[in-house]
Amino acid sequence: MLRPLLVLLLLASASIGRVSSHEESGQWSCESNSEIRVEAEFKPGLITLDGHADDWKDIDGFEFSLLPALDPDAENEYKGGKMTVKALHDGHYVFFMLQVDGEYAYSKGNSNKCPSVALMFQIGENATYHNMGGCQEDKSTCTNKTCKGHEVDIMHFSIGNAIPGRLYGGNPIDNSDGNGGDRFGHLVDIYAWNPHCRYLDGIGPSANDSSGQNDWKGAWWHSTFTVHSGFTEEESPYAENGKKGTYYFEFSRPLRTMDRLQQDTQFTIGGSSMMSVAFWYPVDDQPWHGSGHYSVGCDWVPLDISLGASLLSKSAQSGSWNVASAFSLLLSVASLCLSVFVSYRVFRPKSVPFTPMENL
Ligand SMILES: *[C@@H]1O[C@H](CO)[C@@H](O)[C@H](O)[C@H]1NC(C)=O
Ligand SMILES: *[C@@H]1O[C@H](CO)[C@@H](O)[C@H](O)[C@H]1NC(C)=O
Ligand SMILES: *[C@@H]1O[C@H](CO)[C@@H](O)[C@H](O)[C@H]1NC(C)=O
Repeated sequence: MLRPLLVLLLLASASIGRVSSHEESGQWSCESNSEIRVEAEFKPGLITLDGHADDWKDIDGFEFSLLPALDPDAENEYKGGKMTVKALHDGHYVFFMLQVDGEYAYSKGNSNKCPSVALMFQIGENATYHNMGGCQEDKSTCTNKTCKGHEVDIMHFSIGNAIPGRLYGGNPIDNSDGNGGDRFGHLVDIYAWNPHCRYLDGIGPSANDSSGQNDWKGAWWHSTFTVHSGFTEEESPYAENGKKGTYYFEFSRPLRTMDRLQQDTQFTIGGSSMMSVAFWYPVDDQPWHGSGHYSVGCDWVPLDISLGASLLSKSAQSGSWNVASAFSLLLSVASLCLSVFVSYRVFRPKSVPFTPMENL
């Protein structure tokens, strides 16, 4: 009983923690709160991938300040609010929910005038958060050999052509082309060695490999939408621009993929991965540019894929064993008391007076 409570307390304190960072001129330096971790609990059958956040309401979120990725200075923080990151897995898929407050901004066909999000994960053991893997080669020299060990996996969702509440990402047409593209909603599966060496899965600087796939799916939503039955493209921009509310971005991916080229991160139940989240917003109605994004931290944030059923049933077993043993202890104490009482009654010195035989 006490242990789950302790874990809950620890998680709660972690989710209150805060990332602080700064960049000294020239040399990149970063002080990130090393205690912050995102926990993906095992919760099967809870999440519908539709961009709606109702089904996430009982899942603890992790709140992050959004600072400019290239110059993480607190005074340039995203003014709209913090980003809440939630994650869980169902044994096969990992799910993410990103919530961020923001006035509604949507410009059909112009993704740079709409908010946008990306997830980034470490693949190679030497891949740094800073510089998207941190390979030192430039665009003309980076290859899977010269940048080996610096691979990062990226999912980027630009919503300019994506209808809210509809599913985008991996689809049969782009997957049959053997790459990580998404011609319908621009929810793409990318890998990179640094910001200049960034490719769709399956596409490479020297050769393409037709085995690339887009393994992500996702949807977006904004709290000002009133229609729940489903939008069509004609209804764009779907709500009144400038209205205050919350953006929701929801994603899923299989824990493991069929990647053979170090272009996808692989999640392990009971294991940890390194992740980060980026957010673009058309501040003051100005279109954003690629490097002008906010980030949840200035270094990797650990993501724990929690053990599910086996751990639960083990703790349940040990829990019921404890109850059983406590009960049997109680029983044995009770029976000890009883036997003491009985023996006291049996061997109690009887105050029967001595009567000599002669007097009878
Ligand atoms: C990572 O860097 C270390 C030290 O430079 C090196 O020994 C190791 O082989 C690298 N790992 C990969 C996968 O390249
Ligand atoms: C790889 O695919 C991309 C996009 O389809 C194409 O532009 C490029 O020429 C291809 N590269 C090679 C080496 O075939
Ligand atoms: C690099 O990519 C090419 C083309 O996809 C592939 O044939 C080759 O095996 C890869 N090399 C390494 C070291 O991964």
